[in-house]
Amino acid sequence: MNKITIAIDGFSSTGKSTVAKQLAKALGYVYVDSGAMYRAVTFYAMENGLINDDDFNSEALIYQLQDINISFKFNANLGFAEVYLNEVNIEKQIRTLEVSSFVSQVAAISEVRQKLVEQQQKMGKNKGVVMDGRDIGTIVFPDAELKLFMTASAETRAERRYQELIERGDKVEYNAVLNNVQERDYIDSNRKDSPLVKAKDAIEIDNSNLTLEEQFNKILQLAKMTIEGF
Ligand code: DC
Repeated sequence: MNKITIAIDGFSSTGKSTVAKQLAKALGYVYVDSGAMYRAVTFYAMENGLINDDDFNSEALIYQLQDINISFKFNANLGFAEVYLNEVNIEKQIRTLEVSSFVSQVAAISEVRQKLVEQQQKMGKNKGVVMDGRDIGTIVFPDAELKLFMTASAETRAERRYQELIERGDKVEYNAVLNNVQERDYIDSNRKDSPLVKAKDAIEIDNSNLTLEEQFNKILQLAKMTIEGF
């Protein structure tokens, strides 16, 4: 059966990665979390003293981009690929609120985007991929056969993210998470290079009032219809 490319974009914490993983598993496709790549670059910058509370040395980061090697390795126990920075597994370290609070600044740098977009396009060149992010249907795979744009209210998204962080054992305040979600929405939508916008041909899914199962069934059906018609 022919394989297609599925691009899933949307605001932060709209459940893109959850549905993308489910979909990739059901279709036997590869799942790529493009946000993890921006988080990995951010983590590198933090570890190497290029970012701290009030200072961000973006020039040094651009200069050091050649030293940053990001890869994914499938973890059969988890059922998805984990992200590695220079061969070190950093899947857990990139999910903290601290990384989240700097990642939009890093993702606004054109040189960073250029490097990661190139790698993402290589990963998807044989199709059979579900990739989630902010610019997948607009910049990375403008010819993707199925494009989805996920939305939900900021409060719904912050509540979901807050629960995730608490379940991981992180000590966070709901208001800090809500502020982070709103701030990232703003920066991601207003940056000069590849701002978050819905592709003209993307199907919008507002999941504020959908259960995970309802959302998955709806999207799986869309994917099957697209594959049949391809
Ligand atoms: O999906 P996420 O929350 O893990 O993404 C982290 C950040 O990376 C997000 O705030 C914006 C940025 N990002 C991006 O600019 N382009 C992408 N394709 C994916 C993520």
